[in-house]
Amino acid sequence: MTNNNMYFVANWKMYGNLSSINSIKSVKIFNQSKKLKNIKIIYCPPFTLLRPLVKKLKNSKISVGAQNCHHNSDFGPFTGSVNAKMVKSVGCKYIILGHSENRHNGETDKIINLKIKSALKENLKVIFCIGETLKEKRNRKTRIILRKQIMSGLKNMTKLNNIIIAYEPVWSIGSGKIPKSKELNKAIEYIKSLTIKKNKLKNNKVLYGGSVNPKNIKNLSKIGSIDGFLIGGASQKSKNFIDIIKKTIN
Ligand code: 13P
Repeated sequence: MTNNNMYFVANWKMYGNLSSINSIKSVKIFNQSKKLKNIKIIYCPPFTLLRPLVKKLKNSKISVGAQNCHHNSDFGPFTGSVNAKMVKSVGCKYIILGHSENRHNGETDKIINLKIKSALKENLKVIFCIGETLKEKRNRKTRIILRKQIMSGLKNMTKLNNIIIAYEPVWSIGSGKIPKSKELNKAIEYIKSLTIKKNKLKNNKVLYGGSVNPKNIKNLSKIGSIDGFLIGGASQKSKNFIDIIKKTIN
């Protein structure tokens, strides 16, 4: 693994307010180090913080992304919703789609497919989340689920250039549990084989997400197939986030 060429995506979920974005200052300074030249840091705060964060990170290499969008790419009567066009218009470059917390609330593969298409139309880079539940894992269905989520989510898509896949086993999110290294490597290799087959693309990036923290990152970063990390809880404290990056590249 070329550890100096990795993605570190902070998913703040439904946490944070205007004052939280001040804490990113240390990450902004840290990111100026030459050692981090090829590292890509992306912050995905709640919708309310997107614009202030884009402003705060002006003149830095750190990008901002949203955590979701409505599947309708046009404006319309959808109270409480935000579409990809709106996300793009405030200066975001990335968007997380298909997160299991949204799948859990009824988001289907079909809806995710529409969302991905609408985001790509706006030239957003998509961080497309997939992963099996504990029950599916116990029933040895992991591969079937990953395949289904990829094939349905990316249905009728010919270009995967702007898609980064994030493998997030549902059972590892927020639980402190992570997959065994061998198991994780196999899952990532499998995901890569599927997307390569589908689009004849070689360099599709696959991230890992689920309970990544400063304690387990050293082991996780030894797994050669992983191209970066999607980090929830541990990304909210800049010190932890910086620690994770440092331990990965060192
Ligand atoms: P945690 O790092 O809090 O387990 O969350 C992972 C996640 O869901 C990132 O999208």
